[in-house]
Amino acid sequence: MDFVKFGIIGIGNMGSAHTNFISELTNAKLTAVCDINPKAFDRIKPEIREKIKCFTDVDTFLKEADIEAVIIAVPHYFHPDLAIKAMQSGKHIIVEKPIAVHKKEAERMIAEGAKHPELKQSLMFNQRTLPAHKKIKQLIESGELGKINRINWVITDWFRSQTYYDSGDWRASWRGEGGGVLLNQCPHQLDLWQWLFGLPETVRGVVKFGKYHDVEVEDEVNVYMEYANGTVGNFIASTGEMPGTNRLEITAEKGKLTFEGGKLLFIRNEIETTEFIKTTKKVFGISDNWICEIPYNGDTHQHRNVIENVANAILKDTPLIAPMAEGIRGLELGNSMLLAGLKNKVVTLPMDADEYAAELEKLVATSRYQAKTASVQADAADMSKSF
Ligand SMILES: NC(=O)c1ccc[n+]([C@@H]2O[C@H](COP(=O)([O-])OP(=O)(O)OC[C@H]3O[C@@H](n4cnc5c(N)ncnc54)[C@H](O)[C@@H]3O)[C@@H](O)[C@H]2O)c1
Repeated sequence: MDFVKFGIIGIGNMGSAHTNFISELTNAKLTAVCDINPKAFDRIKPEIREKIKCFTDVDTFLKEADIEAVIIAVPHYFHPDLAIKAMQSGKHIIVEKPIAVHKKEAERMIAEGAKHPELKQSLMFNQRTLPAHKKIKQLIESGELGKINRINWVITDWFRSQTYYDSGDWRASWRGEGGGVLLNQCPHQLDLWQWLFGLPETVRGVVKFGKYHDVEVEDEVNVYMEYANGTVGNFIASTGEMPGTNRLEITAEKGKLTFEGGKLLFIRNEIETTEFIKTTKKVFGISDNWICEIPYNGDTHQHRNVIENVANAILKDTPLIAPMAEGIRGLELGNSMLLAGLKNKVVTLPMDADEYAAELEKLVATSRYQAKTASVQADAADMSKSF
């Protein structure tokens, strides 16, 4: 066997794109898809569709489709139940981000995953494969930056219009989606944050709900984090700014690394910061420094790379780029930011998953969202199971 037979559940924006990505690979073959809405299959290119089987019932799909691995690309609330069902049916899985809506649900998935060590379980954290992100990780891990003192990530270029929010009936409501910018747009940055810097000890911040849009959920966050070793972090995200910014700035003992507009720039101190503070005889002024633009190269087919990696993990036991169990870390970070804003308090990590689930349950109970489709109605009816 030199390729893996893949299926996809959910042929919406992302799932339909995955049909193309799989078709570009030599170690993976798309054999079947599933969506509760048969109109979704019209999104698949005819030349791909004619070679696959389409299902509208997940149980039948998992039982009858000729598949070894499944990509789960449905609204977030469905991720845990479908991932668990797929694993119980003996399928390898790639779960779209976020792993789940809240930490307790992610724990349930990971506990089930532990019962199936023979199955590869991955998250779609495609941005981990981007060459610039890999280079930043390499610079941190090699000690090139020295101890990190401050991390600032301003990620406000996730602009979304009201039309976007109105485009899917599950979107941007507590009942249908379970969160806003932290849960839909930022899971990539939250994952990269924990992947590069680890999790902080405390989180506090201000979170605004429906500030720019007619939505229930958060569309702006301003968060401050502290690490046990003194490193601090600021995370600012919004879907209401135009034009927005995506700037990661890492201030460390050996200099300052910034990534913005595709440019990775390192301003390297000749003398490390703490040493300079202690030893310089200057009243004002800083150490001499060099300005270096760091080159990075590589393949930018992010989603395709994750699917290829999972197929290789299945075929050759190569390590996963984004194991599913790691998905809980960025989710916990996002949940703790929302909890800090909701309760106006400092949240200490590890966060209390029960407390968060109870808060979310209250928000779901007050949600003005009325389920419009059969799928989401079924989901809304079942929602209580997820707390
Ligand atoms: N990795 C990325 O870059 C990326 C980008 C976009 C979306 N996503 C993720 O993909 C997921 C889907 O987002 P989307 O934008 O494609 O949503 P979407 O609304 O466009 O599509 C969802 C599809 O799932 C189907 N569906 C809903 N419930 C189902 C069920 N129980 N069983 C089978 N099918 C079901 C719907 O009919 C729809 O066709 C989300 O979790 C989102 O966060 C990831």
